[in-house]
Amino acid sequence: MKKIAVLTSGGDSPGMNAAIRAVVRKAIYHNIEVYGVYQGYLGLINDDIHKLELGSVGDTIQRGGTFLYSARCPEFKEKDVRAKGIENLRKRGIEGLVVIGGDGSYRGAQRISEECKDIQTIGIPGTIDNDINGTDFTIGFDTALNTIIDSVDKIRDTASSHARTFIIEVMGRDCGDLALWSGLAVGAETIITPETSYDMKDIAEKIQHGIDRGKKHSIIIVAEGCMTGDSCASELTKYINVDARVSVLGHIQRGGSPTGADRVLASRLGGYAVELLMSGDSAKGVGIKDNKLIATDFNTIFNGSSEVKYTQRMLDLTKELSI
Ligand code: F6P
Repeated sequence: MKKIAVLTSGGDSPGMNAAIRAVVRKAIYHNIEVYGVYQGYLGLINDDIHKLELGSVGDTIQRGGTFLYSARCPEFKEKDVRAKGIENLRKRGIEGLVVIGGDGSYRGAQRISEECKDIQTIGIPGTIDNDINGTDFTIGFDTALNTIIDSVDKIRDTASSHARTFIIEVMGRDCGDLALWSGLAVGAETIITPETSYDMKDIAEKIQHGIDRGKKHSIIIVAEGCMTGDSCASELTKYINVDARVSVLGHIQRGGSPTGADRVLASRLGGYAVELLMSGDSAKGVGIKDNKLIATDFNTIFNGSSEVKYTQRMLDLTKELSI
């Protein structure tokens, strides 16, 4: 392995820069040249590929976003479009590609590894959604979680002053992890996720019971994959007469300086991805399970049903603590 490339793809997440940095520095340490592909698969097709040096990743570990830029590139599903991208790697003698992103980004890498045996691919899970199989945590999840916590703590101040019920819609695509973790961390009265069933009448009764006990505010965290904050508010107010307000946190959840946990995770996974390429591995996604680095075949990552990254015990606890 003499030359590798790295790209970030799909929705960005805090910690992607730290992962790129780890890939670049670890590779250079082992005398491997590194190329940065700008704008994800779009840059691969358009030949927006440039050599990265040690200094290219200086002063990046603490920055949110991705200095390589990202893009969603549905065209990459087409074989002839992919061929252009593959040719751009081949003409530089690039033998390994590290793809930092989510599920869709991994699929692009898997197709490359199926179609050309001379280019190894490794995926690094970068998304705030925590929805990738083969890892307990994805890069960016912890930072997004902390952004939500910070926002809800602020919302709670005004909720208390006005004795309001706040419904906070959080991201996560089809995955409820950001809602569940943040709900537990802010002490939400109710957490609504796609993975668990809910009964709005029960939720309304619980909120009313809290008000009757003298609670000054109520916080409901709703995962975007389950319903919108607005529809949650209109369903809720069919059952109880509360002064409800909705906050959609939106893309603020994707920005900001990565937390320590995300920087460390990104650095470990970036370094491990390079180790795997050096040892001849391909078509695998790296991850962390029980604090150990692991690599899982893309096929296994895609073929299993979505991994649930929390225990029944944790679900029970959220109920027990939110009475
Ligand atoms: O996958 C990350 C994510 O932020 C999801 O949580 C969200 O549903 C989606 O991307 C938003 O995508 P876009 O930035 O393209 O609007």
